[in-house]
Amino acid sequence: MSILPIIKLPDPLLRQVSDPIERVDDEVRKLADDMLATMYGAPGVGLAAIQVGIARRMLVLDVGGEGEPDQPLVMINPEIIKLGGAMRSYEEGCLSIPDVRIDIERPSSVEVRYIDRDGELRTLNATGLLATAVQHEIDHLNGKLIIDFLSRLKRDIIVRRFKKQAKDLA
Ligand code: NI
Repeated sequence: MSILPIIKLPDPLLRQVSDPIERVDDEVRKLADDMLATMYGAPGVGLAAIQVGIARRMLVLDVGGEGEPDQPLVMINPEIIKLGGAMRSYEEGCLSIPDVRIDIERPSSVEVRYIDRDGELRTLNATGLLATAVQHEIDHLNGKLIIDFLSRLKRDIIVRRFKKQAKDLA
């Protein structure tokens, strides 16, 4: 397994809508495994393929707590079937927007249909942190980022800061 470089704001790829995966083959399984290694290494609780520069509809998640055994989830072509429950606010971060945390309200339960690493169609009912993380990662597949929940003014301040950092590093 390899750790892949994670792209960061303001990389325009983060705004691209990812394409469905036609077939779960060895290449897709390898990407899933590399994405899991990259997520655990970061460390983070979720990662979408576009964050390693690949515009395909796949994400990985593990919201297990510290000291708990790994609970890796691989979702291919995930689709939200139902959103429900009360709105819940959670302070979200993103591996592509380091050191930024934003309070975001989202539905507290979600039903999602996806294809797993073995190519099986599955349905998951998620609540709590998992429900938040699934919605966050599916947003990535549609080119949406946590800064989009902010006012335009606040969003522009963050984007400008990351543009300047990228320029200083270049
Ligand atoms: Ni993210």
